[in-house]
Amino acid sequence: MMQRKLSRRQFIAGAATIAAAGTLPGRVAAATPSDLRAMPGSAQLAPTDYPQTPIWGYQGQVPGPTLRVAQGERLTRRFVNDLPQPSTVHWHGIRIANAMDGVPDVTQPAVPPGGEFLYDFIAPDAGTYWYHPHNRTWEQMARGLYGALIVEEPAPPAVDRDEVLLIDDWRLADDGRIRDDFGSMRDWSHAGRLGNWITVNGNGDFRLAAKHRDRLRLRLVNTANARIFSLGLKGLEGWIVALDGQPLDTPAAAGRITLAPAQRADLVVDVIDTREAFLISYENDGGFALATFDIAGSARAARLPAPAPLPANPLPPLGDLNAARRTTLRMEGGAMGGMRTAMLGGRRRGMRELVASGKAWSFNGMADMPDEPLVACERGETMRIAMVNDTAWPHAMHLHGHHFRLIGGDGRLGPLRDTVLVDRGETAEIAFVADNPGDWLLHCHMLEHAAAGMMTWLQVGA
Ligand code: C2O
Ligand code: CU
Repeated sequence: MMQRKLSRRQFIAGAATIAAAGTLPGRVAAATPSDLRAMPGSAQLAPTDYPQTPIWGYQGQVPGPTLRVAQGERLTRRFVNDLPQPSTVHWHGIRIANAMDGVPDVTQPAVPPGGEFLYDFIAPDAGTYWYHPHNRTWEQMARGLYGALIVEEPAPPAVDRDEVLLIDDWRLADDGRIRDDFGSMRDWSHAGRLGNWITVNGNGDFRLAAKHRDRLRLRLVNTANARIFSLGLKGLEGWIVALDGQPLDTPAAAGRITLAPAQRADLVVDVIDTREAFLISYENDGGFALATFDIAGSARAARLPAPAPLPANPLPPLGDLNAARRTTLRMEGGAMGGMRTAMLGGRRRGMRELVASGKAWSFNGMADMPDEPLVACERGETMRIAMVNDTAWPHAMHLHGHHFRLIGGDGRLGPLRDTVLVDRGETAEIAFVADNPGDWLLHCHMLEHAAAGMMTWLQVGA
């Protein structure tokens, strides 16, 4: 029997009652369907013997509504900001028109409290994407602002059910409130804001009813500020069919799955146990059930054959990698790193001064968003960026507006991704076709790291 392991957490989950599967906590906002309203709300994140948690959510819910659109179709949402802070919506992983990318001061001004902005774009690729703010992201996402964006394949694979699982890590106080120690330099210079309470779709004891031999599609999204999950299956046989929205050429048997902040994995799983099955999150000292499948009845008499690959999305093929333009991005700083100085506001500053300005990291020696792009690409050009992690921490590097492939040590190309985990001391070289005109961020998706210096941008010519 797998049990939630809570020794290091401040809650006892034993008394948790189970919310009906599919019922999301939070309140339904007075919003029309085409509005996406960021607003305060409340949710029963902790067990029911704790009070509800005041959150910020889209439509006041955690998670926000799952948006679905057919591949190649247009998504239109009027974003309304009912928060006390400016905000924007970023559509993570969508190869979007630059003006719709939701980056304050880069693609649009931040939407002030009471303001609105019309997002209107085409979703070119089928797959699992998500949306979140891009202003004070380290606070706004930690308060619950995020939701899934599903772009449907024209002919989706045959499964009994398609489930979206948004995995989050909250820092809650004993009274159920979100601790408001945002901006703690300790978090910013170490692993980022790690929490003490993990939920799936806002539920600390997430359960799904299933049948023996059911085939399920599980769309996993890591919406945590900074926590890296190491996931596994029990009582389920699974295949990874897509990463960060993009189909794998060949589905891969799902063993241990690392899901860094912002990453997604689409799994096809067959229920092979007859009583209980689990999605497990492993930590140093063991594992606990992130999701529990309560099994009753049988879906079919025999097992299904292994799933076929999903159809590929219309991405441009990489050009000649030997002829590709190369750039290096060196990450430095953080606790236990060797960084002594970095440029900030056009001046070289020592660590003490950087920290006093809320900076702890640098990209190529710069601790703030540079005025000049890391590289100006010609449209259609194949690019290589070697990201050198010269820090004592892993970083989840995300490129906006494009998907890339990792160039392996042996020259072999990895799967298409939009976010890659670069371990300490490691260099990850990515290759992509810069085919989407505009100014695109490249940043660490550990949100405290991004705010504290790990942010740059690329320019793609028109
Ligand atoms: Cu998911 Cu720049 O973001
Ligand atoms: Cu980082």
